[in-house]
Amino acid sequence: MYEQAWHKQAISDLHFLVTGGAGFIGSHLVEYLVQHQAGQVTILDNLATGYRENIADFLKAPQVRWQEGDIRRLDECRQACQGVDIVLHQAALGSVPRSVQDPLTSNEVNVSGFLHILSAAREAGVKRVVYAASSSTYGDSQSLPKVEDKIGKPLSPYAVSKYVNELYAEVFAKIYEMEIIGLRYFNVFGPRQSPKGPYAAVIPLFIEAIQQGKSPTIHGDGEQTRDFTFVANAVQANIKAALVQEPKALNQVYNVAVGKRTSLNQLWHLLNADEANLLPVHYGPARPGDVRDSLADIGKARQWLDYHPGTDIEEGLKITKAWFKFRPINAFPG
Ligand SMILES: NC(=O)c1ccc[n+]([C@@H]2O[C@H](COP(=O)([O-])OP(=O)(O)OC[C@H]3O[C@@H](n4cnc5c(N)ncnc54)[C@H](O)[C@@H]3O)[C@@H](O)[C@H]2O)c1
Repeated sequence: MYEQAWHKQAISDLHFLVTGGAGFIGSHLVEYLVQHQAGQVTILDNLATGYRENIADFLKAPQVRWQEGDIRRLDECRQACQGVDIVLHQAALGSVPRSVQDPLTSNEVNVSGFLHILSAAREAGVKRVVYAASSSTYGDSQSLPKVEDKIGKPLSPYAVSKYVNELYAEVFAKIYEMEIIGLRYFNVFGPRQSPKGPYAAVIPLFIEAIQQGKSPTIHGDGEQTRDFTFVANAVQANIKAALVQEPKALNQVYNVAVGKRTSLNQLWHLLNADEANLLPVHYGPARPGDVRDSLADIGKARQWLDYHPGTDIEEGLKITKAWFKFRPINAFPG
C-alpha cells in the first residue's frame, strides 16, 4: 500500500521506535518504514488491543525488532528507546466509551505511559518524538472547522488524557529542549482496524454488518458528522512530521484529517454503494462523551508539514472494504 514515498531524505540511517506498532495505525507505520528501508524499526506493544498478525509479515524483515512490553513500565520504555532516533508514539487505549467505563486504566496508559515514553526518549537522547494526539481535544468547542489553537472543554476521560499529552509535550519541549510534534488524528480508518469488542470503531462495525447481512446500530440519529481519514494519510503525516527540518514546524500540534465531513447515515450509504440491498439502520441512544460534529482545518499541516491527504473517503472505503473481504471480520483473533 505504500509504494509512494513521502520522504525525500534517506531513512536508511535512522532507527525508529513505533509504540503501539501491533495496532491499527502503528502497523501501517511499520509497513511504510519496512517498505522504504528504514535503518531499524523497534516495535513496543503489549498487545492489549493490537495483534501480532498485524505485523507478522514485517517481523520477517531483518531490521525489525519486536519488544512485547507495556508503556506503563518505565524500564520497558527505557529499553525500547535505546539507540532510537525517532519515536512514533501510537500506544494508548483508544475509545471514548472505554475511558468512560474505566477512566483509571485509560489514564495510566495514556497519561503515565506517555510520560514514560517522553522521559525515556529524553534520557536516551532521541532526536524527535511524534505522538498520536486526538481530535477529541476539541471537546465542546462548537466552531467548525476545527483550528488547532481553538479548543473547548474535554467531554470524556479519553479527551482529557489526550489533551494532557499535549500539555506535557509542550512543557518537555521547552524545559528539556526536545523536538516533539503532536498529530491530532480525526477518525482514522483502513485495513487492520479492529472490529472486535465493545469499543470497535464505526467503519469496521458497518463492514461487519454488511458481511453478515445485519442492520447496524447507530448511537443517536446518525446525523453526527466526522472527518473520516484514511490511514495512509495518517502515515504520511507521521513520516513528514518525523523528518521535517523547518524549526517553526517543530513543537506544534497538527490536525490530521481530510477536511471533509460525512454523517454516519451518509457513511452507511457510501459503504453500501455497490451492494444489491441497503439494509435499514437501527438507532439507539446517543453515547455520553461523543462530540456532535467534527471537521478539520488542515491548513496548518499543509503549510508546515507539506501534508496533502492523497486518499479521500470514497477511495479509502473501497480499499478498506476490499481488504476485509480477504480477512473477514470473524478471522480477527480475540
Ligand atoms: N483510530 C483513530 O481514529 C484515532 C483517532 C485519534 C487518535 N488515535 C490515537 O492513535 C493511536 C493509535 O490508535 P489505533 O486506532 O491504531 O488503536 P489500536 O488500539 O489499534 O492501537 C493501539 C496500540 O497500542 C497498544 N497498547 C495499548 N496499551 C498499551 C500499553 N500499556 N503498552 C504498550 N502498548 C499498548 C495496543 O496493543 C495497540 O496495538 C492511539 O494513541 C489513539 O488514541 C486514534
